[in-house]
Amino acid sequence: MRLLLSVGTRPEIIKMAPVYEALSKIRETELFLVHTGQHYDWEMSEIFFSELGLEEPDLNLGIGSGDQMAQTAGVMREMGKVIVNYEPDAVLSVGDTNSVLGTALASSKLETPFIHIESGLRSYDFTMPEEVNRRAADHLAALNFAPTPRALSNLSEEGYPPKRVILSGNTIVDVVERMLGAIEKSTILRDLGVSEGEPLMTVTVHRKENADREYRMLGIVKALRELDEVTVVWPLHPRTKKRLRSYGLLDELKSMEHVMLVDPLGYLDFLRLLSASDVVATDSGGVQEESATLKKPCVILRDNTERPEIVELGFGEVVGTNPSSIVSAVRKYLYQEEVRRTIESLPNPFGDGTASKRIADVLWRVWDLKSLKPESPHYRGGSPHYVAFVVGGRARGITISQFAEMTGYEVVSVYDPAGSPLPFGPSTPLMEGEIVRARGDPFDSPRLSKLLGR
Ligand code: UD1
Ligand code: UDP
Repeated sequence: MRLLLSVGTRPEIIKMAPVYEALSKIRETELFLVHTGQHYDWEMSEIFFSELGLEEPDLNLGIGSGDQMAQTAGVMREMGKVIVNYEPDAVLSVGDTNSVLGTALASSKLETPFIHIESGLRSYDFTMPEEVNRRAADHLAALNFAPTPRALSNLSEEGYPPKRVILSGNTIVDVVERMLGAIEKSTILRDLGVSEGEPLMTVTVHRKENADREYRMLGIVKALRELDEVTVVWPLHPRTKKRLRSYGLLDELKSMEHVMLVDPLGYLDFLRLLSASDVVATDSGGVQEESATLKKPCVILRDNTERPEIVELGFGEVVGTNPSSIVSAVRKYLYQEEVRRTIESLPNPFGDGTASKRIADVLWRVWDLKSLKPESPHYRGGSPHYVAFVVGGRARGITISQFAEMTGYEVVSVYDPAGSPLPFGPSTPLMEGEIVRARGDPFDSPRLSKLLGR
């Protein structure tokens, strides 16, 4: 199996590292690691290769910074050339960056199966470039690895064929679990003069919708000024540093004695900092997941999140950038012992640390990658259509795969009688009262009608 693994930014490198490792343990697998070059500073890219034991990339496309269009198109064009030369059986990416979308477009256009890890996240916020990227990449993918049941059900709601969606967990949990044993080597707390036991908050901000809007950055800065009872460590993403400087807020932050602005940290140092923190305030996706994994309260500096599991389980709150909302959420997590204790007892919604192994196993054992290559389907009716029905009569008790054999229709989603989505597989029986959505060739509808007694 020849696989091209694509990375481009800090979180992609971190989340792909364990997948690379798991795949490289499979004999007869040839891996080609391509860095798009979207992130290029040593502390945004190279440091993670050495810290996480990831091979140096076989190729760096050198795309660099630029606007959304230039970055995406640049990755598509350059990745396309690599795919043509290397002829992989499949191409893998993780996440929702411009690098991911460019890679998805290139491999799909070249009829090379694109495999999307961390698929199915939805913020429903199209002002975010990431929402555009992830939706497009998901739908271009021949195989989607969803990190949570919620992500899986989002894909099924959008009509994605269930057999092409696999629940894997998020590979970030694998990385955190692997690296936690080594964080004692980090000297970051000593270097910063932070003593364990003093109230500590880690802050990260880099989203376009925050960094590029002055009033939102001002809101965050105002909140930090008020929260002077807690030591704040804020590793500054290069985008954010530039913006804060242009808004005249960088010097103001530097003048706050309880706030430490630092360069982006390496992974060990960052994990050490998180694990010593009492609360985390962030707009980062990966940091939200790590907070839950380390059972740290998370104040989400956004108006929505594509990781609602955090809020639903009680790990954190979506507070936006209004100063008083930030201050009251941070104080709740700092001072309400019961809330903190509850968070420590919550299960991790992002998986059990075996996502990468599962992904490698599926690619190796379950799927003949060649079968993922696109083919033109033949629909006598021109294209498929969707139907919904309540299970009863002859449909009761038959399995999902029997249903497909009997009707030619494929089940897309199953809900309980109250309307909540249910997980299912080929051998799941349909139960009385369940609501099923299916799709098929309209020419097969007489077979469906017969089964349903319509
Ligand atoms: C990108 C991703 C975002 C992801 C984040 C991870 C998109 C649309 N955004 O955002 O989803 O969460 O990476 O960190 O793909 N810069 C440097 N050095 C670098 C990289 C960037 O100075 O090594 C500066 C440049 O001024 C650049 C700016 O940061 O213009 C933004 O970089 P870019 O890659 O466009 O987006 P991120 O904000 O990093
Ligand atoms: N991270 C890091 N050093 C830092 C800040 C973040 O190593 O100074 C790691 C963090 O642990 C997480 C990842 O970078 O795994 C998140 O990246 P980022 O916030 O840039 O992107 P997102 O996850 O939002 O796409």
